[in-house]
Amino acid sequence: MSTATSEQPKFGPRQGQKPEGGHATQVLKTQRNDFWQKGPLLTLLGFGAFVVYVHLRAFMGMDYYAAPYLSPFYSPLVYANPEYYAGSPTFHALLGNLPAGALSFWEQMVAWMPLALPLSPAFFILIFPASFRGTCYYYRKAYYRSLVGSPAGCTVCPIAQGTYQGETKLLLIQNLHRYAMYGAVAFIFILAYDFWLALWMPMTEAGVPWSAGSGDPTSYQFGIGVGSIMMGLNVLFLGGYTFGCHSWRHMVGGRLNRFANGDESSTGITYAIWKASTWLNERHMPLAWISLFWVMFTDLYVWAACNGWITDYNTWSMATSGQ
Ligand code: FES
Repeated sequence: MSTATSEQPKFGPRQGQKPEGGHATQVLKTQRNDFWQKGPLLTLLGFGAFVVYVHLRAFMGMDYYAAPYLSPFYSPLVYANPEYYAGSPTFHALLGNLPAGALSFWEQMVAWMPLALPLSPAFFILIFPASFRGTCYYYRKAYYRSLVGSPAGCTVCPIAQGTYQGETKLLLIQNLHRYAMYGAVAFIFILAYDFWLALWMPMTEAGVPWSAGSGDPTSYQFGIGVGSIMMGLNVLFLGGYTFGCHSWRHMVGGRLNRFANGDESSTGITYAIWKASTWLNERHMPLAWISLFWVMFTDLYVWAACNGWITDYNTWSMATSGQ
């Protein structure tokens, strides 16, 4: 026998109550009359496009270095794999070429898979930024809304009709964010180093810019190209996103009850960093999207340059053509 209490709806007004605050009680219904679907739809499209692109590039495992630019998806390049075309300049890899036998060992390991899985450095690298972004407080809101409609928008009746339990049980994994943040900060410095290297063109013995298959470079020449600028902006945008992270902001100042002087006149370094982080934090959503797409464009640029689909305008080719 059901009781009066068990017949009450889980969401929305209870029997005998007037709807308050415009809450509808049927799935995805709302009393809002604006185009509330726009946000979740754009998120779905934008995030979906990025996820597809990132998988495509990671599975390619090649075309990630067009001198002097290393794709951010493949940074840091720990080992070079000379067997992959236009992928692996030995001089750019931290530990040189892959150890002998590593490739055949990998091939044996993945032999059971229906699709050949290349030994792509991106598989080992992307896990770090992916765990950081995937657990970001802003992205959680975005994909809870657009992927699972829980809820799809403010005052929109959610798809999930169970009892709200917050981020418990499986969703405790979201706590990974505060640890993933350390890795993300390290990546900013790694990418900044790549930007520095993107200002130094490796040159061959003949005094021309290095290209795949022309042996190890004999010198490096300072200059700048469109790719260098893209890589510099990539560091800027990713840095803006990372240093506006809620976990970072908490780490640098949020844990304190008060700063040095306890008010706005504080001049301590901690207060200054916290203020800067707060400024970025207030722009976290646009920075999340700009940095997401810019890192994709930077990789696309390197991929296109590797295949000669675009011309990279730079000071090195200008200097060589003037000789
Ligand atoms: S909260 Fe978004 S990156 Fe940390």
